[in-house]
Amino acid sequence: MKPVLLAFYNNGPLGTSDLEERFDLINLWNEQDPEAAINSNRDNIVAILCKNENKISRKLIEALPNLEIIATFSVGVDHIDMEAAKERDVKVTNTPDVLCQETADTGLALLLAVARRVAEGDMFVRVGKWHNGNLPLGVTLAGKTIGVVGLGGIGSKVAKRCEAFEMNVVYYGPRKKDVAYPYYDDINKMAHDCDMMILTCPGGEATANLIDANVLEALGSKGILVNIARGSVVDEPALVAALENGTIAAAGLDVFANEPNVPETLISMDNVVLLPHIGSATIETRTLMGQLVIDNIFAHFDGAPLLTEVKI
Ligand code: DGY
Repeated sequence: MKPVLLAFYNNGPLGTSDLEERFDLINLWNEQDPEAAINSNRDNIVAILCKNENKISRKLIEALPNLEIIATFSVGVDHIDMEAAKERDVKVTNTPDVLCQETADTGLALLLAVARRVAEGDMFVRVGKWHNGNLPLGVTLAGKTIGVVGLGGIGSKVAKRCEAFEMNVVYYGPRKKDVAYPYYDDINKMAHDCDMMILTCPGGEATANLIDANVLEALGSKGILVNIARGSVVDEPALVAALENGTIAAAGLDVFANEPNVPETLISMDNVVLLPHIGSATIETRTLMGQLVIDNIFAHFDGAPLLTEVKI
């Protein structure tokens, strides 16, 4: 019998065939009773393959005495109990870098879609409204100030793209970086000084509800918010209220507090563009992510250094 890999996810376009050469796989999505499948293999499971929507809890980590590595097909690790992994000396790897450009592109797609009413315009043509008038005007990006929340790998690529659109970039984060963009250590102050804000920071406790009613108020009635980070970064009811009562103008959202559930009020609004968490979702990028998952798992069991270990 080979060691067992517990797969919550099929590793995207690349699939799991390379892994099957070295591991017996439990493909949880095929199991009638996932809990029973885990329980009957608990002593043999040495690795977990998961993605952002799979909760890897303390209970699960503690139930698997021989678990050595959790490889997530995502840059975010907020779905994994990192403290529990550390206590058990279970390694955690993620897929940073390879998805930064793609996710930044998604951010710009949302920003443009909202500012220039792309989704609304598409519907306007399809339902025949064009015969009765013109789409309301959009707003210009050039010359506007955009606040990037979290100038990490993805945030830096977003900033570069916004510069290409002749926008003024400022940023907020836990610390000042060695970059020319103006830095804010106060999110409310930055929101006040911005026309638009884009969220690219990690999820988790440190950023939970960072964008609350006060920040939205500070962004103001012409403000646009784009979220390609995590739903948890925004106080979602506060955002819905701010969009409903004109506290901010519009939003582009790829992520939500309780995916795949999206508040009905958001769905019914014209001033939001909604995407189903597709930040990194291209064939090319998802293939690179899948390869990184495999390379990390193999590196671990070959005794080689991990490529992208997440340490807390
Ligand atoms: C990530 O990589 O964390 C994405 O949000 C999930 O695909």
